[in-house]
Order: sequence, then structure tokens, then C-alpha cells
Amino acid sequence: MNLKDKVVVVTGASAGLGRAFARTLVTRGCHVVGLARNVSRLLEIHKELGDRLITRSCDVTCEEQVRAAFEDLTADPGRVDVLINNAGLGRFGPLSTLSSSDWSLQLDTNLTGVFYCTRAVIPLMQAQNRRHGFGGHIINIASIAGIIGNANIGAYNATKFGLRGLGEALMKELRDDGIKVTTICPGSVRTRFASEAGSRGAPNPMEPSSIAETVAHVLEGPDNYLISEVVMRPLRPRLRQG
Ligand SMILES: NC(=O)c1ccc[n+]([C@@H]2O[C@H](COP(=O)([O-])OP(=O)(O)OC[C@H]3O[C@@H](n4cnc5c(N)ncnc54)[C@H](OP(=O)(O)O)[C@@H]3O)[C@@H](O)[C@H]2O)c1
Repeated sequence: MNLKDKVVVVTGASAGLGRAFARTLVTRGCHVVGLARNVSRLLEIHKELGDRLITRSCDVTCEEQVRAAFEDLTADPGRVDVLINNAGLGRFGPLSTLSSSDWSLQLDTNLTGVFYCTRAVIPLMQAQNRRHGFGGHIINIASIAGIIGNANIGAYNATKFGLRGLGEALMKELRDDGIKVTTICPGSVRTRFASEAGSRGAPNPMEPSSIAETVAHVLEGPDNYLISEVVMRPLRPRLRQG
């Protein structure tokens, strides 16, 4: 896809990876619609990126807010070329002491939020495919925690394993409609994610801009070329020299 003037929706655009996706894709000439709950952080990034970024307050766990956001997008600008399901969080700790609210928060944000946003965009992309012969591209930000389970992150593992399953099913469901689905599985990235999740984080995380460059590369591939999954890791996760 040639990214110039394409409309890209990024969930969780107010921080971390989402912010890096917005920055990289605006630089590539996209119009980015950034969704998140924290309006003041969204305004800050709008100041940085200018009018190619439209911001909108939207909690992806709220079915009604997601429906309203995508209805507005269907009216104006009338198309969505790319959806990046990025909004997500972790709440780490032993399962035996994990609260029901932290369990639900992770499932609601990392899985149900993806369901609401994806379901809202599919009819629009299918219509785009009927009109132009190409529907669009859905990128799901899973994690290496969707491939490898680990102690104390069981609920988060469950959401990201689930998201990879959803992504693979959707990839097969939508490819004949000209809609690509790609699952991105990063290892540790330098964002506030780890501290919010209640962990110390990795000693040598990747930079958000590196993940964003890879996502841009995946989006820029030829139409009949589908990268369905990408795994990325820091080269020296423990900062150890050979
Ligand atoms: N950092 C890592 O090491 C790492 C590794 C692999 C995968 N990931 C995944 O990458 C994604 C982004 O994480 P990050 O590292 O960038 O974390 P982050 O810096 O904490 O950013 C998370 C973003 O998600 C948004 N968000 C959270 N709940 C939301 C909700 N209910 N509705 C809308 N937006 C919501 C936050 O915005 P508001 O608070 O303003 O709503 C924020 O913009 C997540 O899916 C995470 O699981 C992260």
C-alpha cells in the first residue's frame, strides 16, 4: 500500500507504541486518527504532529464509544485504510492473588476492545474492496507474551495468546475480501507499559520507533503480499556482551 494520504486509525495513540505509530505514519504522509482515553496527552501529541493527526477520546472497552467513533469515521472521512489495534495493558502478579477486576480489565482492553474496533471497521473495508479492489489492513499488536507463557503474567498471556488466535482466524476470514490482517509480537519495548503492569521491565528494551518502522514496512508491502505475523526481540535482552 502506498501510505500517502491513507487514513489510519490507531487505538491507544496517547503514549508509547501508539504514539510512535502516529508519528511514523504522519511522517509517511498518512492521516492518522488517534484514539485513547487521556485527552490531554492526545492534545500534546496533536501539538507535535499537527493537523494530519485527528484525536478523539475513546475507551475501547466501551462498545458505545467505539460504535460512535467508527460511525463518525464512516461519515467523514468516509474510509479507513488501516486499523492498528494497539491499546492494551498488563496487570502482572501471581494468579492466586490477581483481582477479578484486574483479570477483567486485561481481557476487556486487550481482547474485547480489539473485537469492538475490528467489528466496526470490517463492513467499511469490505465496501472499500468492492469499490477499489482493496479493502484495507488490520494490524493487531499482540506480544511475545502471546507465544511464550511465563510465571506471574498468566492473564496477560491469555489475552495475547487469544489475540494471536483471533488474528489468525480473521486473516483467513478476511483475505478474500482484500483485507490483510497482521499480528505483531514485540518483546520488551521502552514504554511505561512495564511500570503500569507492576514489573521492573527488561534491562535493554527495544525502542518504540523501531517497532513503528517495521509496521510501516509491513503496511507498504505489495497488495498481493500478506505478512501475517512478525516477531521482534532486543538483540541483547540482558545487555550481556558475547
Ligand atoms: N511495551 C512493551 O514492552 C510491549 C511489548 C509487547 C506488546 N506490547 C503491547 O503494545 C501495546 C501498547 O503498549 P505500550 O507499551 O505502548 O503501553 P503504554 O505506553 O502504557 O500505552 C498504552 C496505550 O493504550 C491506551 N489504552 C489503555 N487502555 C485503553 C482503553 N481502554 N481505551 C483506549 N486506549 C487505551 C493508553 O491510552 P489512555 O490511557 O490515554 O487511554 C495508551 O495510549 C499494548 O497492546 C501492549 O500489550 C507492549
